Amino acid sequence: MNIQLGRTPIGLDGIPAAETALSHVDGEHGELIIAGERVADLAAAASFEAVTARLWSAASGQPVDEVEVRQQLGVARERAFARIPELLAASPGMSIIDGFRAAVAALRAEDGLAHEATIVGACAVIAGALVQRANGAPPIAPDPTASHAADTLRMLRVGAPERREVAALDTYLVTVCDHGMNASTFAARVVASTQADLFAAVTAGYCALTGPLHGGAPEPVLEMLTAIGTRERIKPWVDDALARGARLMGFGHRIYRVRDPRADVLKAAIERLADAGTALPFASAVEAYCREALRRKNPDRVLDTNVEFFTAILLDALKIPRQAFTPIFAVARSAGWTAHAREQQRTGRLIRPSSAYIGPTPDAPKA
Ligand code: ACO
Repeated sequence: MNIQLGRTPIGLDGIPAAETALSHVDGEHGELIIAGERVADLAAAASFEAVTARLWSAASGQPVDEVEVRQQLGVARERAFARIPELLAASPGMSIIDGFRAAVAALRAEDGLAHEATIVGACAVIAGALVQRANGAPPIAPDPTASHAADTLRMLRVGAPERREVAALDTYLVTVCDHGMNASTFAARVVASTQADLFAAVTAGYCALTGPLHGGAPEPVLEMLTAIGTRERIKPWVDDALARGARLMGFGHRIYRVRDPRADVLKAAIERLADAGTALPFASAVEAYCREALRRKNPDRVLDTNVEFFTAILLDALKIPRQAFTPIFAVARSAGWTAHAREQQRTGRLIRPSSAYIGPTPDAPKA
């Protein structure tokens, strides 16, 4: 439903807010292009560092290559690790999601490092340190020679991850690193358009990501699967939720009118993780019934699976605690936010929309 007050579309649906060379979402055909390639092709062939290099090159107009990005992210992870006590100082007792917000806000420029790399490298270290702190353990030091996916997983868990696990996380990071003018990217671009720095822009982006209508959905997806519990309960649970007017987490999208192409990429990545156990068959059964029930409820509005449904299953299979799902999303999306913020700054154009005033006017007759 396109909510309208008078003739004003609320929510900026369909209104281009910027020109971008970074990514394109074709909601009618279910296609996502990131830096010139279809998401499925990128996920099959490129590392997170390679895609990040493409995004940063397109945004800055300066060539950046994969090797340089890998080296810079390694240095950035080490620098962030050295500052972990300060970065986490404001957040004892806070959740992992909120502690991540406080730590990102405390980032600052590092000598000899691009702001983009400082931010993306730090996001992985902060996420790892917050997860370890929640377990009562000290943070795990980064390995600057490792890939970003491998090191992120190492810092989140105890012990070396398996290659197939690293591959699955790398696929996830590539798949969600950028996605057109989503709410968090828009927030980051608005801040960058004031010529505020990338640290401010990315903090704003993360804040927008935390809501359940955007990047906060995967944890509720797992809660939904846990609450349903068994195959017999799928139908009554989903029917009851929809009858109460609840939204099914991991379904529906503002832009896609068909299945989110990222859902299939992530589902295939989960299938390659051989011992994902029984989670995937059960989740697939829940997904199938949710799609059917949503088709019945809203026959004129396609509500299909979005990226968050399989994100939840994938990150859970990687033994990442559900409270860290949104920060892990930010580890990936920080590549897109930094690129968009840089691209926006280069336009020099302040983003300043108007609003439709519906309040009283001084000259209107008083009731
Ligand atoms: N479950 C049930 N009903 C839904 C859902 C859902 N997941 N999504 C939309 N609807 C219904 C709405 O209730 C509305 O029904 P109505 O016309 O009878 O009132 C209709 O579909 C249209 O909804 P809108 O709010 O106009 O859709 P919008 O484009 O604003 O919503 C959104 C997109 C926010 C993602 C929505 O589908 C939703 O809340 N999904 C659940 C949360 C979720 O999965 N978030 C992650 C999104 S992906 C990402 O951001 C990375």
